[in-house]
Amino acid sequence: MKIPSDVLDVLADPRTLIEGDRLHIPFELDRPLYERVNKLLKEAGGKWDGRKAVRAHVFPHPIEDFMQQAILAGEFMSRLDLGWYPTPPNVVHEILEQASIRPGMTVLEPSAGTGAIAGPAAGRGGVVDCVEIDERRAAVLEERCGARMVLHGDFLTDLNPLDYAEGFRRVLMNPPFTNAVDHVNHALGFLGDDALLVSVMPDSITWRNDRAHTQLRDLVERNGGEFIPLPPDAFKPSGADVYTVLAVVPTGQDGCTIRNHTWHVNRPRQLDLFTV
Ligand SMILES: C[S@@+](CC[C@H](N)C(=O)[O-])C[C@H]1O[C@@H](n2cnc3c(N)ncnc32)[C@H](O)[C@@H]1O
Repeated sequence: MKIPSDVLDVLADPRTLIEGDRLHIPFELDRPLYERVNKLLKEAGGKWDGRKAVRAHVFPHPIEDFMQQAILAGEFMSRLDLGWYPTPPNVVHEILEQASIRPGMTVLEPSAGTGAIAGPAAGRGGVVDCVEIDERRAAVLEERCGARMVLHGDFLTDLNPLDYAEGFRRVLMNPPFTNAVDHVNHALGFLGDDALLVSVMPDSITWRNDRAHTQLRDLVERNGGEFIPLPPDAFKPSGADVYTVLAVVPTGQDGCTIRNHTWHVNRPRQLDLFTV
């Protein structure tokens, strides 16, 4: 996203304080300019905190390097460009209820943002591995979320189920909505046997009729999974007006047809049969 030149002047002004996770503008701006600065900082992930002791835009991660680069380039990647809608606490609570995490359970969060789900899962004793494509958010995960491992990379291309000796007991996720079906399909490959995936998805998974949506919907239903509707305003706190569901997918059914971690481990042997 391009930064308009008058907004850029404000950000680059030597009086503007950019420190840790805060940006503080200690001088007066006229109202229209202030509104443009505020809008841009919100797009970048900041929130105005008007308390007397703060009076700054506060971000969920350190911003010195990010702001320096944005000012030099005159543009930045907005928080929405990579589909970042942090999961609100009520939805996190519902995910954790469905997942019944017990201490020591292995958990994968494959698009972990700044840890809205991963942090509480680790807090309940889960042994959590996180993947996140955005470098700043990956740095926050390293610092704050109590994960066993944080991988900064692209879950869809950089991570293979066979990178792991065993499947995970739980996969908990709220993937980018633009390709949520691809993320969920890939994530199923990391589930162990008798394991569970719980994912936020746009509610279009329950009604879209293209091949990708129909196949995933059928797979979930055939394997005893379900799509639980979330309240229409569930993502309002993150600034998103979308209808969402929780996809809950178990691999513990007799005759499970999900291509989970065990399927991937056995697959080379199945193919060998045909290469003699
Ligand atoms: C909807 S947000 C949710 C973040 C976090 N799961 C949460 O619940 O707050 C989706 C996240 O996925 C990340 N992301 C997008 N594509 C990705 C990919 N291919 N691999 C890993 N992370 C990705 C985005 O940077 C963003 O942080």
